[in-house]
Amino acid sequence: MAGKHVIVANWKMHPASLREAKKLFEATRKIADKASRVSVVIAPPALFLTPLSTGYKGKKIAFAAQNAHEGDGGAFTGDIAVAQVEDVKAHYLLVGHAERRAAGETNDDTRKKVASALYYGLTPVLCVGEHVRTQNGEHFGFVRDQLKAGFQSVDPNAVGKVIVAYEPVWAIGSEEAMSPREMHEMAIFIRKTIVELHGAKGHSVKILYGGAVNEQNAAQMLQFGDVAGLLVGRASINPKEFAALVESIQTNS
Ligand code: 13P
Repeated sequence: MAGKHVIVANWKMHPASLREAKKLFEATRKIADKASRVSVVIAPPALFLTPLSTGYKGKKIAFAAQNAHEGDGGAFTGDIAVAQVEDVKAHYLLVGHAERRAAGETNDDTRKKVASALYYGLTPVLCVGEHVRTQNGEHFGFVRDQLKAGFQSVDPNAVGKVIVAYEPVWAIGSEEAMSPREMHEMAIFIRKTIVELHGAKGHSVKILYGGAVNEQNAAQMLQFGDVAGLLVGRASINPKEFAALVESIQTNS
C-alpha cells in the first residue's frame, strides 16, 4: 500500500482528567515517533484538544475533533464550532460518528459539517455504517444514503479531500471486527457510489475501517481490506494495546 497508514485514535469520552490525557498523549507520541509506516491522528475530548494540540511541536501526530457545529459562532450552548477547532491546530474533524448519530445527528447535519470542515481547511472524516446486516443487502442502501447526504454540498473538486470511515455499528465496541474480505467489498461499493455521484475524483477518497480494531486484526485489515487506515476506539486508550497494534502494522502490513 502506497503512503502511510492513517490510524485515528478516537479517545471518545476518555480519560477523566487532563493529567491522564497528557500521560496518554505522551505514551502515544512515543509510539507514533517510532512508527515510520503509520501516521497517527488523535481525537481527544474537546476540552483536552487545546492543551494537547497547541503544546505539541512535533510533526508526527495530527489532531482531530470528535464533533463540531458547522457554524463559526452563535447561540448553541454546549457546542464547539468548526472555526474554533481549526483555531486550536486540529486538522481533522470526525463527522457523523455512530455515537453522534445515536444522539440525534442526522444525515443533513453531516452534510453541513462536512462542507463547513472543508471551508475551514479541515479534513472531514465522514463516518458511515449500518446498524445490522441482513441477507438481502439492505445495508448497501443505508450506507449509500449516508454517503449521498455527507457529500451533497462538497464541491466536485474537493471530493478527494474527504475521508470516509466505514464503521458498522454492530462492530463498534464488540468483540469481533468485520472480516477484511467484507471490508474489501464495502470499500469497492463506497468508491463506486462516490464516483457515481461526483465523478472520477471519488476514486481518490481515502477509506478507513473502524470497529473492534486490535493488534490481532489491524495488519490484516490494512493488507486485505482495501483501506488506507483505521479508526480505533478502545485499543487507542490503552498504551500497551496501542503500541502492540502499531507494532503489528509496522511489521506485517
Ligand atoms: P472500538 O474500537 O472500541 O470498537 O470503537 C470503534 C469506534 O467507534 C472508533 O471510532
